[in-house]
Amino acid sequence: MYLILLGAPGTGKGTQAKILAERKGWLHISTGDMLREQVAQKTQFGVEAKSYMDRGALVPDVLIISMLQSRIREPDAARGFVLDGFPRNLAQAKALDHALTSTGKNIDLALNITVPDEELVRRLSGRWICRTCGEIYQESTRPPKVAGRCDKDGGELYQRNDDKPETVRQRLADQKPPEDLLRHYRRKGKLVEIDGTQKVEDVTKALLDAMKAGVPA
Ligand code: AP5
Repeated sequence: MYLILLGAPGTGKGTQAKILAERKGWLHISTGDMLREQVAQKTQFGVEAKSYMDRGALVPDVLIISMLQSRIREPDAARGFVLDGFPRNLAQAKALDHALTSTGKNIDLALNITVPDEELVRRLSGRWICRTCGEIYQESTRPPKVAGRCDKDGGELYQRNDDKPETVRQRLADQKPPEDLLRHYRRKGKLVEIDGTQKVEDVTKALLDAMKAGVPA
């Protein structure tokens, strides 16, 4: 399976990609996580990317496309993957199509998760992430059993720099999937809309049902 999870910041792409990866054994590729690793390692790429991420802007295509293309060429991506955070625009989608078709592969489905803005602001202001395993929590809807500690491995929980209210507002203004990107997948018959306001497990069920149903008519 070659799946894409589309959606504005906070719609649950990362939460669902992790669940699908765990349940199905699929590779989870998150461009946001890859960028944060570069930032943490203070590479030249990371320093450059950070200046965009900190203000809630997209990292330029010229940087992100080559990073993603190298990642999907690695051997562990040959059996399929769930893409979380890529593509964000039509240029990225076309670059992804090209990278896949040149090796005889294709995207199976693009699942667009939608949630109203006010709920996204609420979710992101209460998001906590495990420093060790990346598990994602939400203060009110998915709290850890012990405040500040991951249920899975006891790792320290932290809040992302770009989850500050003013940066969240900028991300919501600039980073919703644009209409031409959605149209690209709709025209190919690969776009499925998913109601992201449901409980986490119900969103997972909707995603799995969409995959079972296959490509929409
Ligand atoms: P990235 O890390 O991809 O961030 P994002 O797209 O803004 O998405 P988020 O990770 O914030 O949200 P999510 O949809 O994964 O939601 P989550 O599951 O965590 O990108 C970060 C930055 O990197 C970008 O701003 C950009 O600068 C750069 N970047 C990355 N990719 C790029 C690209 N391709 N091109 C250019 N730049 C790029 O859930 C959010 C919260 O809600 C959590 O607390 C969770 O517990 C909770 N939650 C989830 N589902 C539910 C539910 N059903 N009900 C209630 N709560 C829920």
